[in-house]
Amino acid sequence: MSRRQVFQVGGVAAVAVGGSCAGIRLLDQPSRTLVGPGSAAVARVEAARSTSGRVVRRTLTAAPADVDLGGRVVSTWAYDGSVPGPEIRVGAGDLLQVRLVNQLPEPTTVHWHGLALRNDMDGVPDLTMPAVAPEEAFDYSFVVPDPGTYWLHPHAGIQLDYGMQAALVVEDPDEPGGYDDEVVLILDDWTDGWGQPPTKILAGFARDGMGSMAGMGSMGSMGGMDGGMGGVSSDTPLGTDTGDVAYPAHLINGRLPLDPVTITSAPGRRIRFRLINASGDTAYRFAVGGHRMTVTHTDGYGVEPLEIDTLILGMGERYDVVVEVGDGVFPVVAAPEGKPDPAAMAVLRSTSGAAPTPGARPAELTGRLLSYGDLVPTARATLTAQDVDRELELTLGMADGGRRWLINGATFADRQPLDISYGERVRITMSNRSMMFHPMHVHGHTFALAGDTGTGIRKDTVNVLPMQTVTVELQADNPGQWMAHCHNAYHAELGMMTVLSYTL
Ligand code: C2O
Ligand code: CU
Repeated sequence: MSRRQVFQVGGVAAVAVGGSCAGIRLLDQPSRTLVGPGSAAVARVEAARSTSGRVVRRTLTAAPADVDLGGRVVSTWAYDGSVPGPEIRVGAGDLLQVRLVNQLPEPTTVHWHGLALRNDMDGVPDLTMPAVAPEEAFDYSFVVPDPGTYWLHPHAGIQLDYGMQAALVVEDPDEPGGYDDEVVLILDDWTDGWGQPPTKILAGFARDGMGSMAGMGSMGSMGGMDGGMGGVSSDTPLGTDTGDVAYPAHLINGRLPLDPVTITSAPGRRIRFRLINASGDTAYRFAVGGHRMTVTHTDGYGVEPLEIDTLILGMGERYDVVVEVGDGVFPVVAAPEGKPDPAAMAVLRSTSGAAPTPGARPAELTGRLLSYGDLVPTARATLTAQDVDRELELTLGMADGGRRWLINGATFADRQPLDISYGERVRITMSNRSMMFHPMHVHGHTFALAGDTGTGIRKDTVNVLPMQTVTVELQADNPGQWMAHCHNAYHAELGMMTVLSYTL
């Protein structure tokens, strides 16, 4: 039993209603009493988290920067002047203290994607904290609860599609090992300072819907087919329209294929890759030429090891895979799923020899493809059985030809928050009534895939395919106000967000 499970025994009686800090507007209704980010309940759950006694301190500066992507310098917004920003590595139970310094011309926040942290440190403007104004700073401070591969990004407007992103690796004190080296690979679609800036792309969608990219003459996946519903109709497991933004480039760890990141190793060594899809509008199909890979984790949580050739990561998803290095020089490829854009590439090298050419498409990309249903959670990652106390529905839809994206018929501005209570087992049924996939992400919790097809694997971001229904269950053990939204940055900004709201 984990500390948090023990704490549930305290139950709802322990939950107190929260004051709200200045600047936070919560949608309160007379009949509902919210458990706010500043509530005693949040502080109490934080105090009950088990700690290592270690403190890790960092400063992160969000600022405009000129960044070399490997043969092309772009002017963009970045953390500490680099793309990706500096990795943060902590142990489970560490107290992480990060000072965010905002040197951007607009407000920003940092969100710690996937962490079940205290609600007032979750970094959602106007829901969990006021945004940090230009020339101001904010001190994040929270206990990092669970081991795994996480990441951080802004949660303000369309800032996610700029260069602000970094890995957050939480080491496991009980790491079973089984590998020699570790490599973090961040996959990202790039447009800022090269193609259209994200604000302009977003404005185009808001004005013209899904016809917008074709209208802007910004070449790519929008062929302007079928009257603006566009997308190249290559059939992928995610559907025929996997994304509507054409990116001039795709990157692995901030590098273009022409001047890629090179991982130098030796034959027989076992490398654990921590894969993070930090993109705005692109799912990636990932493979290592000449190698099979063993999946060990998704979204930070363990799965029974499974050998595959290739896997697809939706926006916000993470996988950890182990590869036993062969003899030679190999392309490590992240191909935009269903988009004709050039693939991202890194190089894995264990001997001398010429690097693979950009555009290399290893056969593994069409080999055995992972699907969620293949994976089984480890015993440790399995959600303890409990009867469902509450059922919620999230119906995902599109309106006005893609000018608005909806949850339960409403955009975020018109949302009807979904009430839950501390201690409950909550079942959420997500029904996609649109023709695009949506990587649905819930803050502050890691749910289990449930229902007929769910194998119980733990995720915080799950791809819900066109016209598909996905059921998940979560334990309401982290009081506060939590976003639930599509991790397509454009869908989210065009409305596809709501709030899981702890109430009394
Ligand atoms: Cu990765 Cu609401 O975020
Ligand atoms: Cu979406």
